[in-house]
Amino acid sequence: MRIVLLGPPGSGKGTQAALLVKLLGVPHISTGALLRDAAYRGTELGLKAKALSDKGELVPDSDMAGILEERLSQQDVVNGFILDGYPRNLTQAETLTAVLDRLKLPVEEAILIDIDAEQIIQRIAKRAQKEGRTDDTEETVRNRLRVYTEQTEPVADYYKERGLLTRVLGDGTVDEIFQRIRSILSLGTVSA
Ligand code: AP5
Ligand code: MG
Repeated sequence: MRIVLLGPPGSGKGTQAALLVKLLGVPHISTGALLRDAAYRGTELGLKAKALSDKGELVPDSDMAGILEERLSQQDVVNGFILDGYPRNLTQAETLTAVLDRLKLPVEEAILIDIDAEQIIQRIAKRAQKEGRTDDTEETVRNRLRVYTEQTEPVADYYKERGLLTRVLGDGTVDEIFQRIRSILSLGTVSA
């Protein structure tokens, strides 16, 4: 299954992707995680990305296209993937379609996790205490939300126009949301 997970920061993309990966046995491709790993390793792109992420800004499309193509060129994607954090604007959506068309592995489902800003801020504040992600400060989270509204929300329409979009309510427990996603994907409702 080839799935794109969309949704604002803190909506639960990473959490739900981890559960889907366990169920489906396909790789979880998180561009945010790839960037954080590059920053940890101290690569030039990683450090540039960290400076932008810490302000809540997007990394340039040209840099992201390189990261995406490199990851999608790995053999494990042929059985499917859960893509989390890409695409984040219409240019990236077009890039993804082009790359996947070339690989003959088009997106089959785009699932958007819908949640309001207040819950996002609460969830991320909790995560900030536990994990210490450097972009989880309140000011940066507000900017990430603004960037999401301005740049990423139009991506939902991109997939809607192609008949691939389903919205799922991101309110509730992790397991409740997972059951909603399973039912969208016709994967039954047994607890994971
Ligand atoms: P990225 O890492 O993608 O971050 P994000 O989109 O802001 O989303 P998060 O990872 O914060 O949230 P999530 O939706 O994964 O939620 P999670 O499951 O963790 O991107 C970071 C930065 O990298 C960007 O700002 C940008 O700079 C750069 N970047 C990445 N991709 C890029 C791209 N394509 N182009 C350009 N730049 C890019 O859940 C959040 C918290 O809530 C967790 O603590 C979790 O345990 C908790 N939680 C989850 N579900 C529930 C629930 N149901 N109830 C209660 N708590 C819950
Ligand atoms: Mg995440």
